[in-house]
Amino acid sequence: MVTTNTLQTTAEVVPSQQELDPNRVTVDMVRNDPEVRTLIDCADRYLAAIGYTDHGFGHVSRVAIRAQKILRELGISEREVELAGIAGFLHDIGNMIHRQGHAHHSALLSVPILKRMGMPLEEIAIVVGAIANHHEDCGEPVSNVSAALILADKSDVLRSRVRNPKMISFDIHDRVNYAAERSEIIVEKERHLITLKLKIDTSLCQVIDYFEIFMTRMTMSRRGANYLNCDFRLIINDVQLA
Ligand SMILES: [Fe+2]
Ligand SMILES: [Fe+2]
Repeated sequence: MVTTNTLQTTAEVVPSQQELDPNRVTVDMVRNDPEVRTLIDCADRYLAAIGYTDHGFGHVSRVAIRAQKILRELGISEREVELAGIAGFLHDIGNMIHRQGHAHHSALLSVPILKRMGMPLEEIAIVVGAIANHHEDCGEPVSNVSAALILADKSDVLRSRVRNPKMISFDIHDRVNYAAERSEIIVEKERHLITLKLKIDTSLCQVIDYFEIFMTRMTMSRRGANYLNCDFRLIINDVQLA
């Protein structure tokens, strides 16, 4: 099991690349691929049918951008930054098969897509390892890309993800998401600190509700931050809570 790592140690796992291969598979190629877009739509439709929050293009785009930001601001290699973005776009496509086990399904569905695009197997292994380990039921940070994907995915708590605001009085997940007016990840490289800063409308949801639902996500986020040799801090409405 991976616990706390130093940046030096994790950098040894994936060598830093000074120059990017011009023939590499890029985030834009994955984002604009018609098959990828269809799979994202299908997965989101499945989740809509069973009443889950939005997991469509908006969610995966935010996750991709945030995962890249985390690694870039920590000074991790630009290729790992790009792989984190690619993992962000693909991480939830397995929901088109079933919610349960979706992380593993997403990883397996991604292999032939990335192979078709010409990604080397060593990079595919990093991307699908991150995807398969992003969910809190059995995921563990296994690489820089994986740790960033976990932090980015678990921090995407947002009002716009609620499909039916009428449900917020019945469903605590919807209520917590609907109450979240702003969600921001702050990376402080020099202080080895990653902060999730949330603004929550407490007339809709008490902070305790947030903890009830998101405790496992916070624990996983801390493990992700620790993998990147950082502490994890949670601030809700300007109060530090963890
Ligand atoms: Fe997921
Ligand atoms: Fe997700």
